[in-house]
Amino acid sequence: MKKCYITAVANQKGGVGKTTTSINLAAGVAALGKKVLLIDLDPQANATSGLGLDKRTSPSIYQVLVGEASLEEIIQPTDQKKLWIAPSELDLAGAEIEIARMDDYLYRLKEALDPVREQKQYDYIFLDCPPSLGLITLNALTAADNLLVPLQCEYYALEGLSVITDMVLTLQESTNPDLRLDGILFTMFDTRTNLSKDVVDEVRRHFAEGVYTSVIPRNVRLSEAPSHGMSIFGYAPVSTGAGAYLSLAKEFLKRNA
Ligand SMILES: Nc1ncnc2c1ncn2[C@@H]1O[C@H](COP(=O)(O)OP(=O)(O)OP(=O)(O)O)[C@@H](O)[C@H]1O
Ligand SMILES: [Mg+2]
Repeated sequence: MKKCYITAVANQKGGVGKTTTSINLAAGVAALGKKVLLIDLDPQANATSGLGLDKRTSPSIYQVLVGEASLEEIIQPTDQKKLWIAPSELDLAGAEIEIARMDDYLYRLKEALDPVREQKQYDYIFLDCPPSLGLITLNALTAADNLLVPLQCEYYALEGLSVITDMVLTLQESTNPDLRLDGILFTMFDTRTNLSKDVVDEVRRHFAEGVYTSVIPRNVRLSEAPSHGMSIFGYAPVSTGAGAYLSLAKEFLKRNA
């Protein structure tokens, strides 16, 4: 039976490449022929604008989480074939306060996703999380089948990693027994420094197969693409960034077939 995989892209640390990975992994998987939905769960709405949508577009995922709209109602097509987005907006910051008062405050996103998942309109759904382990990220980890953690190749990367892997264990014992750590992805790898290599080696020793073989290098094209409202495959299809994310998309599909 065809399954619809839901992957949360999360790390409580800011600026580690969650949104860049959400956009370009989603776009890469879509380019490989799968139907993909990207849900922007960050009030900064960087995934929304990064795919060329107006940040102020309403309705957004905010209305879905507070129960004013269904997920189907807010989904919009993107310029790329087979790729859809559920946009975010600044107001989403207020959603945490509103849903905190609700009995099902950890299940708001899961309940919104259930009908979409049942209809099997999408093969893969990606959740771009905000840089915190607040209620929105907990909703994402409760709704997801697996978690992908982008990790910047820097000295303190390991410290933060245990915080989110402990969170996975907590959720496995509470709201989401089936949650899996799909993988750790190294981002912004700098080939010129030994530090990047040392960090990668150390994390591989700890997590072995949990680490993606594909590594995303630092590539200026990846940082330019969002201001053009395009994924790397639209903006610079022959860049090293595009090659890296295509390799990641293939590896992701192999792991989650
Ligand atoms: N591989 C890369 N090469 C060069 N720049 C990158 C790369 N990955 C991400 N960036 C840039 O680094 C910054 C942070 O990346 P991104 O927004 O993806 O991180 P994030 O984890 O989503 O941040 P936040 O926690 O604020 O949501 C952005 O300016 C982005 O363009
Ligand atoms: Mg982000």
